[in-house]
Amino acid sequence: MKLWEKGINPEPAIIEFTSGRDRKTDLHLTKWDIVGSMAHVIMLNDVGLVNDEEQNEMLKALHSLFEVDEKGNLVIENGMEDIHSQIEKEMASILGTTGKKIHTGRSRNDQVLVDIRLYTREEIDKLALLTEKLFSRLQALSNQYKDVLLPGYTHMQPAMLSSFGLWFGAYAESLCDDILLLCTARELNNRNPLGTAAGFGTTLPLNRKLTSELLEFDDLLYNSAYASLSRGKVEMAIASALASLAQTLSRFSMDICMYISAEYRFIDFPDEYVTGSSIMPQKRNPDVFELIRGRSNIIQTLPNRIAMLTSNLPSGYNRDLQLLKEIVFDAFDDLSECIEIMLLMLRNIKVRRNITENPLYNTIFSTEEVNRLVKEGIPFRDAYKAVADLVKNSSFSRTSVKDYVHEGSIGNLCNSEIAAIFEERMKCFSNKTAAEMAEKMMGYVK
Ligand code: ARG
Repeated sequence: MKLWEKGINPEPAIIEFTSGRDRKTDLHLTKWDIVGSMAHVIMLNDVGLVNDEEQNEMLKALHSLFEVDEKGNLVIENGMEDIHSQIEKEMASILGTTGKKIHTGRSRNDQVLVDIRLYTREEIDKLALLTEKLFSRLQALSNQYKDVLLPGYTHMQPAMLSSFGLWFGAYAESLCDDILLLCTARELNNRNPLGTAAGFGTTLPLNRKLTSELLEFDDLLYNSAYASLSRGKVEMAIASALASLAQTLSRFSMDICMYISAEYRFIDFPDEYVTGSSIMPQKRNPDVFELIRGRSNIIQTLPNRIAMLTSNLPSGYNRDLQLLKEIVFDAFDDLSECIEIMLLMLRNIKVRRNITENPLYNTIFSTEEVNRLVKEGIPFRDAYKAVADLVKNSSFSRTSVKDYVHEGSIGNLCNSEIAAIFEERMKCFSNKTAAEMAEKMMGYVK
């Protein structure tokens, strides 16, 4: 059955191709499609387009479909284009004529827009909580190993004294910025497109403010044509936040792959957490981090893919937009899996002590030797030249964590300041689950 069937049987190959992966992808949206429909029905009753009895019947039927879905029994049947068609069909078979009123004043275009916004809002909130766990783990490691020294690198050459505290803490603060981008994407996402119909509104006197309140959006997306144009734009904002998070994971993974190698040996993992080779008996490979790096790098292509998909589209709905769903939904899943496994690995990471005692790293103390002379009153450039002449044949006195006092240095990591910023930014994320929303809508049964 097609919602738009008008007496001519559509060619099955055409339906198969145009439905694409929707029968699977749209299952992500089922709960939110039902919750959005419940809000729509309450609004239709409010403006007099369905009477009280019809509203009650429709809410109960939608709630029963929600329960069927919770048990995993709601499927998109063969021949159905998408979740919206399936739910409308179910409503008609449960309620007959009344069920057919569900699509009053609505198009699948605004329906899919609202579904995606509700679904991605929830995914953003879940991802933020997971990111918070990683942030806390990195900060805990930073605090635990704040006195364990490490050579810091620039250009992949030993540069200056660093510490595990600084290194772990750097990635924690990186997540702190990623979470702000995620919050911004969430704000952009949290406006209501429902009621804009196919992108041009409707002569039916809808109450769009009511559905916005019911669905707990911050406000409406006002301009009906912009609501449709916003598909792709909000995904782009979300993708940018996901890409930024992925960049943090990828760079951290690269460091780990390097630091675990035989030449560095700064860190290690228990045997159960590294992988082997089918031919070389000695191998202890960091496959987990290589895969996090690879998958995160693929996630970083998401903004570009969205730009390519949408850049030459005219305004109004175009079917190309359907393809946004799978790439964005998959990115949430990919990123979450990467963070989960990274958390497991970081619960088991081992750091090596006394690394900087190796004479190889003697030169990393040369800059502080310059500073020692500066403190004695020698102009910086002269001190620099004097020390440069000594670099090859001298060993410099070693600085330690307590010599570094300014904010953000190895002796003063300011982890609690960073945690306070993170905590403040986390206030952005919280909403009811779909089940809680569905219960709330049932409170409107009269
Ligand atoms: N599956 C479609 C999508 O995700 C739903 C909207 C269909 N609208 C239409 N006019 N064909 O975009």
